[in-house]
Amino acid sequence: MQKFIITGGRKLRGQLAVQGSKNSALPIMAASLLCGEECVLWNCPRLTDVYAASRILNHTGCKCSFSENTAVIDPKDVTETSIPESLMHEMRSSIIFMGAMLGRTGECTVSIPGGCELGPRPIDMHLAALRKMGADIREEHGRIICCGKGHGAKISLAFPSVGATENIILYAVTADGETVINNAAREPEICDLCGFLRKCGADIKGDGGSSIVIKGKKQLYGCEYSIMPDRIAGATYLAMTAASGGEIILTNACIPETEPFLSVLEQTGCSIYTNRDKIYLRSGARLNAVKERIRTMPHPGFPTDAQAVLMAALSVADGTSVFEENIFDCRYRHVDALVKMGADIQVMGKIAVVKGVKGLCGADVNATDLRGGAAMVIAALTADGTSTIGNICHIDRGYEKMEDAVRLLGGDMRRS
Ligand code: UD1
Repeated sequence: MQKFIITGGRKLRGQLAVQGSKNSALPIMAASLLCGEECVLWNCPRLTDVYAASRILNHTGCKCSFSENTAVIDPKDVTETSIPESLMHEMRSSIIFMGAMLGRTGECTVSIPGGCELGPRPIDMHLAALRKMGADIREEHGRIICCGKGHGAKISLAFPSVGATENIILYAVTADGETVINNAAREPEICDLCGFLRKCGADIKGDGGSSIVIKGKKQLYGCEYSIMPDRIAGATYLAMTAASGGEIILTNACIPETEPFLSVLEQTGCSIYTNRDKIYLRSGARLNAVKERIRTMPHPGFPTDAQAVLMAALSVADGTSVFEENIFDCRYRHVDALVKMGADIQVMGKIAVVKGVKGLCGADVNATDLRGGAAMVIAALTADGTSTIGNICHIDRGYEKMEDAVRLLGGDMRRS
């Protein structure tokens, strides 16, 4: 098992290009199943979750190969519609293959993804919506057996779930008739998926808003598409630099999409300037605590995926900050590790109260989940002494060689 070894105390400085978005790449890879021709995806991040998606595609008969950050997917021959449990469990969001596979072949068998590091991850909204669109879905011994080519329907989601919105879109683009999704997720990655599908010939309107209208098409084509930058990876490197008292220019960044995070980070006293695809941040003295409660909400609210990394930075700020986690039940699992490193954080249900301390000290900790692991890296980089972070497979799921990015900025971090 690999570990990260980090010696803290250096101010991070430099320029970094933000990787492509994991949460866009995964549904877009699934969407390529629906195309009759080859798809080329640029700016595809090299991550274990992306490789897991590529193994699923290859298993179905699609040919998926990588060259640097370009993925080439040839979906002409789909010969297998059942995705084995072992592949489904490699990546929690594998459930988005359900809508795409059903749309392509009219049948699919997948597994219930089960609980994950963030707590139970139900798929009731996915299943109810696909059923309303005509899919016949049975659950047998943990396997979900689905069939039906699908027809348009009016669907109102009880909560704007990202995954459910994606599954509905994937099923609807080649279904008969018109589908309307009310209370759809408005995350930028939904717009990226729709941008890709439109380039393949799909008729989708309203993405980015709460109501999405999709008119099913008989045939989708191949295309070349560039995956959007990863707003959460960008937020992570900004929080990391801010906590270290350093200075960074992020290139290949997506500015409007990162705004809900930037507007909170700015309250810590950092200077932040944006221009086209660049974000400049300078953090001089100790960070200020954030006065208003930081509530995670669906986009355009503060992203749950950036909660842990901002918490790590605020654990050494001047004053008390309060978080309210509204999206996932178990999203404070990084807190114990931060406390072990000297942070003063009290969790009461959805609330975490972070009293800023003067400094952290190095410790041996284990990553609990992807963003929690990134938070531990940030804490270790500000801490006095050396830290070891285990279970870094969680971090590799979402960050392209994080140690190289940190070293480029002058941090002391290596993999062993
Ligand atoms: C996606 C992102 C994840 C991000 C999350 C919220 C990907 C690969 N992952 O996850 O990084 O943290 O959006 O922005 O894009 N829920 C139900 N029933 C359902 C579906 C969801 O109760 O059928 C609940 C979930 O348990 C959770 C909430 O809705 O409490 C939000 O989940 P959802 O928006 O679906 O997140 P994901 O798509 O899983």
